[in-house]
Amino acid sequence: MRRPEFIAKHGGMPAGWLGRVLASIMERETAAINQHAIALLDPLVSEAVLDIGMGNGLSLRHLASHVGEGTVVGVDHSPVMCRRAEKNNKSLVDEGLISVVCACSDDLPFETGHFDAAMSVHTLYFWDPAEPHLKEIARILRPGGRLVLAFRPDTDPATSDFPNSIYTFRSIEEIVSLAGSCGFEDFVLEDGPNSEAILCALRSHC
Ligand SMILES: C[S@@+](CC[C@H](N)C(=O)[O-])C[C@H]1O[C@@H](n2cnc3c(N)ncnc32)[C@H](O)[C@@H]1O
Repeated sequence: MRRPEFIAKHGGMPAGWLGRVLASIMERETAAINQHAIALLDPLVSEAVLDIGMGNGLSLRHLASHVGEGTVVGVDHSPVMCRRAEKNNKSLVDEGLISVVCACSDDLPFETGHFDAAMSVHTLYFWDPAEPHLKEIARILRPGGRLVLAFRPDTDPATSDFPNSIYTFRSIEEIVSLAGSCGFEDFVLEDGPNSEAILCALRSHC
């Protein structure tokens, strides 16, 4: 059944009490795809890694377990999710091993080439147009840096549950083409655990 707009909008920007309730549900629904995305990102010791639209931020502690003394940063434009991600990772945030930054993915407050790897799970639908976001992610990755994008392609029947006034679903070919025009190359496509697509790419050297 299609979700009403007043609920669906919290997927792209959780806010208020309803946003917090839906975020708790999302936490359970997206755990498996995040694990897959992290395994494909393959974060290495001492790397700087970024999760864009990290939501509850449960991914951040898993990323931190891979990079050791490296840097893990989560970015989300929803203040509700930023507070929640900080709370969920309090001890690692206090130790300075994880940072949470409230920002939009088309204007990331990081130096060019700062990150070795970046991931983003179930966020592409809210980037319309997607180019400014993908170009900004390419900017903050070093040349050869890794990107993992997990999303539902438009062929997935589950997409009919979401209103297209809020969610923009695209074909895999369109996402590959968009990423290719925004500074990425060497694409590898994987299946997610619940019929999601996972696109792995490298930041091109030019
Ligand atoms: C559907 S939730 C997915 C959250 C998390 N990645 C997960 O897998 O559980 C989408 C998240 O991306 C965030 N988001 C959407 N568009 C964003 C943007 N342009 N910049 C930063 N965060 C964004 C939302 O606030 C929300 O927390």
